[in-house]
Amino acid sequence: MKNVIVTGGAGYIGTHTCIELLNNGYQPIIFDNFCNSSKRNIDTLNEHFGNVPYYDVDCRYEWKVDNALNRAINKFGKISGVLHFAAYKSVGKSVKNPLDYYDNNVGSMQTMLRCMKKFGIENLVFSSSCTVYGQPDKLPVSEDTPLKPAEAPYGRSKQICEDMINDCVKAHQLRAVTLRYFNPIGAHPSGLIGELPLGDPENAVPYITQVASGLRQEFVVFGNDYDTRDGTCIRGYVHVVDIAEAHVKAMNLLLNKNLVSNVFESIREEGSEVDDAWLTSLKQTENESSNQVFNLGTGDGFSVLEIINAFEKESGVKLNYRIGPRRSGDVSAIYANVTKAKRWLGWTAKLNVNDAVRDAWRWQQTLNSEK
Ligand code: NAD
Ligand code: WQD
Repeated sequence: MKNVIVTGGAGYIGTHTCIELLNNGYQPIIFDNFCNSSKRNIDTLNEHFGNVPYYDVDCRYEWKVDNALNRAINKFGKISGVLHFAAYKSVGKSVKNPLDYYDNNVGSMQTMLRCMKKFGIENLVFSSSCTVYGQPDKLPVSEDTPLKPAEAPYGRSKQICEDMINDCVKAHQLRAVTLRYFNPIGAHPSGLIGELPLGDPENAVPYITQVASGLRQEFVVFGNDYDTRDGTCIRGYVHVVDIAEAHVKAMNLLLNKNLVSNVFESIREEGSEVDDAWLTSLKQTENESSNQVFNLGTGDGFSVLEIINAFEKESGVKLNYRIGPRRSGDVSAIYANVTKAKRWLGWTAKLNVNDAVRDAWRWQQTLNSEK
């Protein structure tokens, strides 16, 4: 089993990723300070999915990460890579408290890069976000789209982290995959793992499931006067289990240095021609210090009303909602071109939005049953 550090592994996407890592022969080792998660998630992982050790560590502080890495290496042996999830993720809070976001998101990235170099750990998978694109000029958005100035400090913190990784791959040996998630939703189909909402949910789907179970009065659709097919915003919702699987494929890409033949095979299957520049760049990824960026989405976009319809159909519950004003900072439509992830990672989303809202609803019922 290859040992990998999962910073922020007790959180929403991290827990799902630990399950997929275990399913694929990796030993995840969590570094988390539980600022936005609970040790209960670790207990659930250990009880139902496999042994997942953890260290209670704040990834901003180098001496703490050094200490945890030394302990992990002494106990489990060589560390093959790091999956770096640890960050704050609220766009709204980042506008109110920007320094907290630079401190935690940029600070923990810097510390992890420094410690990886010190400990000779060369493989990194980084959690970035579609928010780095802003409002794209062309849809679906592909990875080579020039980034616009970020709308909020959260997005800027992700852009800065991406720049830091790019600088490090030029300066020393580091092989990185940056994953730009679009809108991760849903929960593990077991109903045992999902997002633990602390306070008011900011995202649409947890808000919808809370309204449907009577915890909140109504869901407000933020505007129906956008230039979209039904007037509501369009997003690239993608099931969290698919997102988790992409992390395994990303780590496989970094650790398997003989992938060219596999990729050729998939191109042949598609009946496409091989582009020389692309092939050269692929060969570099196999052997050299590099950062490869991938969008993670389904390739489709769904409107807010379409998500509500999918939820009502899957849950059998009529949602109490009304149309309200626009939310400031919302882009009208964004969803991903995922061709690159398909070719290079061999990854495509297997689940759809119906699966995702059904699993989110099952998870909400698990939470309700514990009250
Ligand atoms: P989450 O808040 O559920 O998980 C983050 C985890 O990191 C939590 O367990 C938290 O306790 C931990 N953490 C935060 N700061 C830490 C620190 N300094 N040291 C140690 N642990 C720390 O968030 P999530 O939804 O699982 O998101 C994971 C990553 O994916 C984040 O980097 C986020 O920015 C990114 N992302 C999330 C989404 C989304 O919609 N959920 C979309 C795009 C990108
Ligand atoms: C989805 C749609 C809202 C709540 C955010 C971050 C992004 C990434 C994913 C981290 C939008 C509408 C929402 C509500 C609504 N996270 N909505 N009523 O804003 O697309 O993306 O999460 O990296 O960076 O910005 O996600 O779930 O908040 O909104 O109508 O009560 O639902 O307008 O169109 P968003 P969201």
